[in-house]
Amino acid sequence: MKYFIITFGCQMNKSDSERIASVLEKINYKIASKIEEADLIVVNMCSVRQSAVNRVYGLLPKIKKVKSILTGCILKKDRKKFAEKFDYILELKNLLKWPEILNPSPLLKTDNRLKIEPKYSNNFSASVPIMTGCNNFCAYCVVPYVRGSEVSRPAEEIICEVGNLIKRGYKEVWLLGQNVNSYNPIPFSQLLKKINDIPGEFWIRFTSSHPKDFSDKLISAMADCKKVTEYLNLPAQSGDNEILKKMNRPYTIKHYKNLVKKIKKKIPNIALSTDIIVGFPGETEKQFENTVKLFKEIKFDMAYISKYSPRPGTTAAEMEDTVSQEEKNRREKVLTEILKETALENNKKYISEKVEVLVERQKAPGSWIAKTRTHKNVQFESKQDLFGQFVKIKIIDALPWGLKGEIL
Ligand code: 5AD
Ligand code: SF4
Repeated sequence: MKYFIITFGCQMNKSDSERIASVLEKINYKIASKIEEADLIVVNMCSVRQSAVNRVYGLLPKIKKVKSILTGCILKKDRKKFAEKFDYILELKNLLKWPEILNPSPLLKTDNRLKIEPKYSNNFSASVPIMTGCNNFCAYCVVPYVRGSEVSRPAEEIICEVGNLIKRGYKEVWLLGQNVNSYNPIPFSQLLKKINDIPGEFWIRFTSSHPKDFSDKLISAMADCKKVTEYLNLPAQSGDNEILKKMNRPYTIKHYKNLVKKIKKKIPNIALSTDIIVGFPGETEKQFENTVKLFKEIKFDMAYISKYSPRPGTTAAEMEDTVSQEEKNRREKVLTEILKETALENNKKYISEKVEVLVERQKAPGSWIAKTRTHKNVQFESKQDLFGQFVKIKIIDALPWGLKGEIL
């Protein structure tokens, strides 16, 4: 029997899919190379945006003839709609019970799904969830409803998992959580230090962070831990204080800018990315201009810009969605144009620099795409097989979305 998993949404969902794959293989399913060959199709869905939900509807013709499971972040209303389309709607928190449901002879002997060893999707970069859920209830966001409240994994368990990965030759670990700053068994800064102390040559990355509880200790830990890379995703969501308040994001732009200043002081070459929502209910032109101002001032390296869409059950869904689709499109374009300029300006500083990169994929025979510690794409040529390896590169050209280099 063969399985095929389709994953939507964030890195956390991708990481969950690696654990689903591992559970299915324990009950003797093999991976199918394409959806048409599968006897079991798992759809790991995301409800953060309506567009991802619509794509699940698009998959329905494909799942008709085979066994199908819907899982992931599912809203109540969608659960009802999908109930008759899928054979099973299963909760990730019950992943350990899936074998019993799918196959009457269960084999798994653990009481915690995060203890299941995932079937990692590549052999050099791994995602390690350190916590799940979220307690923040930002007004627009479904995550607290679909993933529940925050639960942290014990530090020893995380350190053990990372240690094993490094022994097996992994070069990069992503520590994942909806808000890693509220990891609570020990301060997150201490967890970083403990992982940094694991012997071996590897990079540590983490996502995502909430500006409201990004501590000075964490900034120091990032600066001191040599394996922690100079890249940070720090979602601002808006550049306007009034909108932040309406979003239930308890910080001001002054706080955000001050935080960035402190981070840049300790880690001068840090690359910053952010998440922004344009067209939140009631966002005026003037309020949007404050986000424009923030973009011009911070000069982000990357931004994940979303057009607001109401999500059922959230508090923002009760507010009137005042900004038209055309205006949301325009605001997104305005920010993207500024981002292009600031990212290019930042990237130009790399020209003639020698940087270490981790090779991620082959674009074409002899042409490779790698990442810098600052999470920038670098394209370079080499006839060697460099997949998943660290190499030294001299940067020769800069584009808004990446760099070009020569192998040293
Ligand atoms: N509409 C638009 N964007 C949203 N995001 C979360 N909820 C919504 C929504 N209802 C964005 C936020 C978040 C990212 C993962 O998705 O910017 O950081
Ligand atoms: Fe959603 Fe806010 Fe939690 Fe992030 S911090 S997952 S945006 S509720």
